[in-house]
Amino acid sequence: MTAERIHIAYETLKKTAKRCPELCVVLGSGLGGYADTLENAQSIAYSDIPGFPVSTAPGHAGRLVFGGKFGADVVCMQGRFHCYEGYTAAETVIPLRALIRLGVKKLLVTNAAGGINTCFRPGDIMVIEDHINFTFLSPLTGANMDDFGPRFPDMSYAYDKTLIHALKTAALENGIDIKTGVYAMMAGPAYETPAEIRALRTLGADAVGMSSVPEIIAAAHAGVRSAAISCITNMAAGILDRPLSHEEVMETGRIAADRMQTLIDGFIRRV
Ligand code: HPA
Repeated sequence: MTAERIHIAYETLKKTAKRCPELCVVLGSGLGGYADTLENAQSIAYSDIPGFPVSTAPGHAGRLVFGGKFGADVVCMQGRFHCYEGYTAAETVIPLRALIRLGVKKLLVTNAAGGINTCFRPGDIMVIEDHINFTFLSPLTGANMDDFGPRFPDMSYAYDKTLIHALKTAALENGIDIKTGVYAMMAGPAYETPAEIRALRTLGADAVGMSSVPEIIAAAHAGVRSAAISCITNMAAGILDRPLSHEEVMETGRIAADRMQTLIDGFIRRV
């Protein structure tokens, strides 16, 4: 049962974590290095936390890093769980929910995404203003966990306006050009077909990826304020006349990592 696994994970974290952070930062593909910038860091491998799933995705280290940043207590999730690995949406958010139980009140999610909006370029950073869940999976499926939130949570303000403003201000102050838009989650692990990308564009999506939405839903359910940023690592399928590859995604992610890190820093200073 997921509820029990969350509880077991929480009990372990309560005993071992030296800090009770209010802010959780989920580090997507290629951004794991950000956790190394935390002061007085304490890291706990996912494999040492009973109840946690085990990460299988390449480029995902799989550990929680607790530490300080600009005077704030922060926890970074270095590596996340995806539905395409075979986990249910509820399983993918066990770590986040254990951290929410530990006291996390704000969430910053990062990810790699394909650009659907043809004004975007690989290497761009997009602040997510809303999402469309094309997996139709929810981490809230099953008996409602009343101690987290209501059966039918509102998603109108899932992306917190104040936190979005903090990201935009941080970008402006650091001379980082940012886009804004709607993130579409697809199940993966195959990249989309060109026809799917045309359909997603028609339906209002600016970028596409295979993560983050379950985390945002779980956070909204629990009343945790969230913001999210996508690194546009490639143009989505069919836009350019060439194949997509995981290598391209990782390489562009590396190139944009410095700007993503500066943006995360600016965000933390502000919230
Ligand atoms: N599609 C889905 N997920 C992704 C992509 C993409 O083009 N790029 C990075 N993650």
